Amino acid sequence: MERSYLSRRVASLKPSGIRKFFDIVATMKDVISLGIGEPDFVTPEPIVQAGIRSLLEGHTHYTSNSGILELRQKVTENLMNMYGVQYDPVREVVITVGVSEALYLALTAVLEPGDEVLIPTPCFVSYQAEVILAGGIPIEIPTRMEDNFQVRADALEAVITSKTRVILIAYPNNPTGAVATRQTLLDVARLAEKHDLLVISDELYDQLVYEVEHVCFPALPDMRKRSILLGGFSKNYAMTGWRIGFAAAPESILTGLLRIHQYTIMSAPTTAQMAALEALTHGQPFVDEMRNEYDRRRRLIVNGLNRLGLTTFEPHGAFYAFPSIRITGMSDEEFTQKLLEEERVALVPGSAFGPGGEGFVRCSYATAYEKIEEALNRIEHFVQRHS
Ligand SMILES: Cc1ncc(COP(=O)(O)O)c(C=O)c1O
Repeated sequence: MERSYLSRRVASLKPSGIRKFFDIVATMKDVISLGIGEPDFVTPEPIVQAGIRSLLEGHTHYTSNSGILELRQKVTENLMNMYGVQYDPVREVVITVGVSEALYLALTAVLEPGDEVLIPTPCFVSYQAEVILAGGIPIEIPTRMEDNFQVRADALEAVITSKTRVILIAYPNNPTGAVATRQTLLDVARLAEKHDLLVISDELYDQLVYEVEHVCFPALPDMRKRSILLGGFSKNYAMTGWRIGFAAAPESILTGLLRIHQYTIMSAPTTAQMAALEALTHGQPFVDEMRNEYDRRRRLIVNGLNRLGLTTFEPHGAFYAFPSIRITGMSDEEFTQKLLEEERVALVPGSAFGPGGEGFVRCSYATAYEKIEEALNRIEHFVQRHS
């Protein structure tokens, strides 16, 4: 057998379940994809222009390791105005290459080898791998539709050991679309305090909430000191390709993140930082417009799926619906495979997002309204044939 030069840690990582599926989708014609986890909108024009302008003006150099100070100031101003949580823009924020990097920094900075990280699932596909890469052990805690996909403190507490160090939460949630209630987060907070745990809160979709308010975890009483807040621009401002985000935490923690960032990344892309500054300064009307359109599609898809008998919990955040496909008697993998072959609609099997996702599929409504209508017609034919 050929010798492997890969570390055991890396060799143990499973390839992403979604990637394989989308490689197949890419080779097919006439597919309606509700599979993609990113906005269909392009970045609003003034934000793009700010990026172009910054290049033409010669901003082609590294920035400070932490990121442009003016951008950090805007980030902290925004967090203060929206959630009443205060961070020092000089010492408590780092601008990163998306929340992806911010999460990697956070986990790498705080985990000792073998430390356990509690991850409510279904969750974003990278979490388990990122924990393993940082030397930790992911402990998955399935959430349930019956609980509106809220993480339950008793389920978390049942798996806490002397090795538990971090709870990693993400609301609004990918893939369920659930938004945590204040009570859910207060319960998590009480638990974190009781067992002296750190909470990493991925709030990437914070502005994409419908009919409810987003509660920022570190803004809860006494939580700032034991939280790392991850936030970004990819979803709120339709800026996935710019690769820009941030982490905020008390100085004693942030210093650790910054050190890793300094040695691995140097600084986030300058052009993207300038564009992000414009997004925070003048981007709100665009966010409102996109949110309204997502909301219109959300109603269409949730009502449509429920009408077909695919029970769908009402998602109040992000841009995903997460129907149960149990009535068809198929596994979620079989359902998505057959739906793609027979009706050319691409969805993502819920099990790709971890335990608790089995028997569900993720439908992204970051797709044009008319396409969602057509996808629902196709799904209707499929369900009629198979149930
Ligand atoms: C919950 C969640 N966190 C993080 C990411 C990665 O985001 P970014 O583009 O900021 O790296 C995603 C992307 O889909 C996500 O859904």
